[in-house]
Amino acid sequence: KKTYRIAVIPGDGIGVEVMPEALRALDVVSQRFDIGFDYQHIEWASCDYYMKHRQMMPDDWKEQLKGADAILFGAVGWPATVPDHISLWGSLLKFRREFDQYINLRPARLFEGVPSPLANRKAGDIDFMIVRENTEGEYSSVGGVMYEGTEREVVMQQSIFSRHGTERVLKYAFDLAQRRAAKKITVATKSNGIAISMPWWDARAAEVAAQYPDVAWDKQHIDILCARFVMNPDRFDVVVASNLFGDILSDLGPACTGTIGLAPSGNLNPERKFPSLFEPVHGSAPDIAGKNIANPVAMIWSAAMMVDFLGGNVAGPERDAHDAILAAIEDVLKKGPHTGDLGGKASTTEVGMAISERLAGA
Ligand code: NAD
Ligand code: IPM
Ligand code: MN
Repeated sequence: KKTYRIAVIPGDGIGVEVMPEALRALDVVSQRFDIGFDYQHIEWASCDYYMKHRQMMPDDWKEQLKGADAILFGAVGWPATVPDHISLWGSLLKFRREFDQYINLRPARLFEGVPSPLANRKAGDIDFMIVRENTEGEYSSVGGVMYEGTEREVVMQQSIFSRHGTERVLKYAFDLAQRRAAKKITVATKSNGIAISMPWWDARAAEVAAQYPDVAWDKQHIDILCARFVMNPDRFDVVVASNLFGDILSDLGPACTGTIGLAPSGNLNPERKFPSLFEPVHGSAPDIAGKNIANPVAMIWSAAMMVDFLGGNVAGPERDAHDAILAAIEDVLKKGPHTGDLGGKASTTEVGMAISERLAGA
């Protein structure tokens, strides 16, 4: 029997509330598919920790995570006490960069039983994958403020696109599109307005596309691409985007499928040189935190993505476990119970337990 070491980082707000539901589901698949999970429960990478230690993580955080096969992550951020750029650059964004998790894979799917805010869309109509570049681009720490506090004050922040970083995310996305039935990919761009980096990004896309003659591709400016996510989401299969464009699209896509409370993600180091990190797309949701009403599906689905990734994304008990979790999620979305974001009244715990019960075959 294979045993995986999982670093469990609940973080802040609803991260702490949805995490137990993912662990509950993992306990069931551990039994059912004979997969071992050895948990390392971590209380740092949270704003509570910051309030005590004035840093988000201990200095030896990397040392402590050595030997982790994957990181299961809730959400970080408590802007009432810690500014977001401090909490996020001190934790999540550090993991993405230091562990070279250069792919952020974010599915959007419309499920049966989940009303879409878009008219006349039914289950299956929306089913695409956003591949977001996750280590560079617009998220850079290069820049600064000059002449601060004077009328000459200037702020600059550099976007950085490396050839290596751009080619690898495009290749990953084209590979993914090639393995899917529709074999279609859309490249997000803004080469009309951002006239240095984006035409260059388009050129990299064209070069990579030439290596995938069987994949149909197009490029769309981010503004109209957002509009089409709403008007015609059914036309998308794989969408590849820079860090910031991918961030925006990955809240918009799930919003079109009913709620961001469903959207999972994998922050992947595909070479498996470093641990990958699995987390919901959503944040710590301070507005609903502490009430046990958050939708746990995004967290549970993220855990399912983790198990499949641990198994190498090939047939085996891990793939079976992933599929079983997804089937249980589908069943609960179809028949209920539902949390408030889906118009229901059930608690986080009730939905999590329902999923785990279906998973156990109850
Ligand atoms: P958010 O995703 O936390 O919340 C946005 C809205 O969606 C809120 O109204 C919230 O109640 C709702 N929502 C989110 N998840 C939900 C769920 N599972 N079930 C039901 N409703 C849900 O985004 P925000 O308000 O912009 O950010 C809040 C904090 O989270 C900030 O500190 C932000 O920086 C942080 N954040 C962290 C991550 C992360 O850790 N990956 C991601 C996004 C935001
Ligand atoms: C996400 C989040 C993060 C991002 C924030 C919290 C820094 O919005 O994972 O989508 O922008 O990447
Ligand atoms: Mn985001």
